[in-house]
Amino acid sequence: MLSQEENEQLTKVGRGTPMGDLLRRYWYPIAASSELIEKPTKAVRILGEDLVLYRDKQGRPGLIGPQCAHRRMSMMLGIPEKEGLRCPYHGWLYGRDGKCLEQPYETAEDPSSTFKDRIRMPAYPVQELGGLVFAYLGPEPAPLLPRWELFVRDGVLRDIGAAIVPCNWLQIMENSLDPVHVEWLHQHFFNYVQERLGRTEFKGQPVSHKMINFREFEHGIIKTRMLEGETEENEDWQVGHPVLFPNILLSGSTQRPTFQIRVPIDDTNTLHLWYTCYQRAAGMAPQEVIPFYKVPVPGVDATGEPDWSLLDNNSGEDIIAWVTQGGVADRTKEALGLSDKGIILFRRQLKEQMEKIQAGQDPINVFRDPAKNVSIKLRLEDAKLNSGSFRAGPRRQGGATKYSPVLDQVERAAK
Ligand code: FES
Ligand SMILES: [Fe+2]
Repeated sequence: MLSQEENEQLTKVGRGTPMGDLLRRYWYPIAASSELIEKPTKAVRILGEDLVLYRDKQGRPGLIGPQCAHRRMSMMLGIPEKEGLRCPYHGWLYGRDGKCLEQPYETAEDPSSTFKDRIRMPAYPVQELGGLVFAYLGPEPAPLLPRWELFVRDGVLRDIGAAIVPCNWLQIMENSLDPVHVEWLHQHFFNYVQERLGRTEFKGQPVSHKMINFREFEHGIIKTRMLEGETEENEDWQVGHPVLFPNILLSGSTQRPTFQIRVPIDDTNTLHLWYTCYQRAAGMAPQEVIPFYKVPVPGVDATGEPDWSLLDNNSGEDIIAWVTQGGVADRTKEALGLSDKGIILFRRQLKEQMEKIQAGQDPINVFRDPAKNVSIKLRLEDAKLNSGSFRAGPRRQGGATKYSPVLDQVERAAK
């Protein structure tokens, strides 16, 4: 249980708050690169700041304030140009650094005008990697964009699923430090959902947790589990899988890993991305564009009744748990037990890293040495959940990949 003050310290993401300042030390994916092919501008809200992402005529992404500095027209309607984004109202042009580059009428009437040199829009650095557009909203100098191995791996196909989840980012992360929920939410509750939907396919082979463990490592926390019937030799206990500080879970298997990336939009909304790599079978062409898909967000109606049809997969079940905890879970009323030791460890880690930046140091996972940022490798267990017997349920109950556009293609090629 936390005090009100502690809960606020952990969950408020605005600029100038302790957590907001810590979170601003990291790069965040804010769009799939492919989204900017369909439409060259995208309204983005991140860490409580409204911005407009765009791609200029040279193909470079830019991220600037949402309204023109002149008389506030929306830059969502801005016209992409070679050097930036032009406001459609009176033609002021802004570069990727937010500087005003042109004011057509001002210079027409007064060619010596220096007015534009005093105009600057908010703007942040953006970079693309692995089909994602990342932004950095923190203090300069910006660290390197981490090249986690999934973003740079060769010989794979990828897709990117996304959902806007109406709750604070921390309860989503805490779910990733909570292995015990798997046997309940993704098994017993799953079977109950099937029953409620009048279906007859159920998950068998109960997964019962006997022991859970959490170990800090250089990039975050590795969580391991021992299930009923397993020994210390099992990969579930030996290898486990990592939670990368502060906002990424690595799940799946070596052959098909998924990053679940949680991007705080504001205190009560989170952009959730599922970034999956699939082995590319011989004869399959590499992707020119990494497809982007939307994952539906289950909610509850005014009476608390959920949309049951969206709860027949891991992601739907996780989301309904996060969302029904409240916009910001009230941790002054929680009752943590032995199953919550990973959550307690993660909160401690967050607190330590907040203290680090207050002491003027870089927190963990801030990379500044290019030699250490070529391809950052991570381990995860392949023989997950007792060698996968848990997964031998109805097809595609695994999670967001239920909605994946690439999975069908991959499965067809594997036949
Ligand atoms: S409002 Fe943008 S140029 Fe006038
Ligand atoms: Fe889950």
